[in-house]
Amino acid sequence: MEKLRVGIIFGGMSSEKEVSLNSGRNVYDNMDRELYEPVPIFMDSGGLLWELPWQLISQNTTTDVSERLAEEARRVAYEELKEKIDFAFISLHGKYGDDGCIQGLMELLCIPYTGPGVLASALGMDKHLQQKVLEAEGLAVPRSVVIHERDWGARREDVKKEVVDAFGFPLVTKPLREGSSVGVKINRSLEDLECGVTEAFRWDNSILIEEFLEGIEFSSIVLDGDDGEPVALGLTEIHPQSEFYTYDDKYMPGRCRKFTPPKNISREDSQRIKAEVLRAYKALRFRCYGRIDGFFLRDGRVLVTDPNSSSGMAPSSFFFEQAAEVGMLPSMIITRLIEIALRVHRDKKGPL
Ligand SMILES: Nc1ncnc2c1ncn2[C@@H]1O[C@H](COP(=O)(O)OP(=O)(O)O)[C@@H](O)[C@H]1O
Ligand SMILES: [Mg+2]
Repeated sequence: MEKLRVGIIFGGMSSEKEVSLNSGRNVYDNMDRELYEPVPIFMDSGGLLWELPWQLISQNTTTDVSERLAEEARRVAYEELKEKIDFAFISLHGKYGDDGCIQGLMELLCIPYTGPGVLASALGMDKHLQQKVLEAEGLAVPRSVVIHERDWGARREDVKKEVVDAFGFPLVTKPLREGSSVGVKINRSLEDLECGVTEAFRWDNSILIEEFLEGIEFSSIVLDGDDGEPVALGLTEIHPQSEFYTYDDKYMPGRCRKFTPPKNISREDSQRIKAEVLRAYKALRFRCYGRIDGFFLRDGRVLVTDPNSSSGMAPSSFFFEQAAEVGMLPSMIITRLIEIALRVHRDKKGPL
């Protein structure tokens, strides 16, 4: 029998391309060769696709890969992708990666792919709109205001007064559409706030200023079940060693304490959190899988702060940690994800 050719798409155009390189390589390394033929497809910083030979997959950075593309890799035009792969395992993160862009391209090419469709991916990326949808479904989210660059230019003093009056310090500033904590700052004074806002605007034209949450941060991977009902794979309690869960805490080994299952959250509260996680997953129309992050506050409230329509897949990621907790090896959960995605795409009417 012909094996399914699974294109692993990684690299990309976002601030998270190095994270994506790590994810993609790990998925490539762990894919079950008995079942699938993995095809590594690198997206360069201009959005062009390349089929990589093995020696480029193991490069440390996307710059190392990019420098050798012209000599050693094969360009794959978008319309050629369909001849190369039967399925896309999307290991891209961030803008153009899990925000609906690549998903739209896959739909046009009729290639089934991991993760949700265009709309849900875009919602998973937009930190303002996702809060609106979650709120409308009765879920608790942090209080925040969205600020567009032109408003900041025109009414900066008013805006500062409004947010400080409403939420008090500390205040969290973040770009509307980023991930991996890129552009996120905790601000404890008006001076900080100026810097935090400026930093966030480096990454997007709209930003959020959010109330600061005190409690235990959590993360939960969700998979679509066989009957289509989503299931929370596990729950991890996160104790960053920095002021908050920064890029370094996320990706540098030994920079963060994690407990799966949680150590300081009771079984009962964990069940309550998982129920909220599943409500958020459904509210945003996530499909196939996702990762829902939030805070368990001191007063017992559960707030969803960061629903993600995909997950990092480095060896130390929540994805593999929570899979291991239920006895699944990386190869097994990767197979599971492909099976779920194939089913979801088989059943769809029009784009996912
Ligand atoms: N309102 C908040 N209160 C306290 N910490 C926050 C808040 N929002 C974000 N953080 C911290 O910043 C990190 C990154 O923010 P998040 O909104 O999850 O963005 P990203 O999509 O980049 O992961 C979180 O993991 C958390 O540690
Ligand atoms: Mg987050």
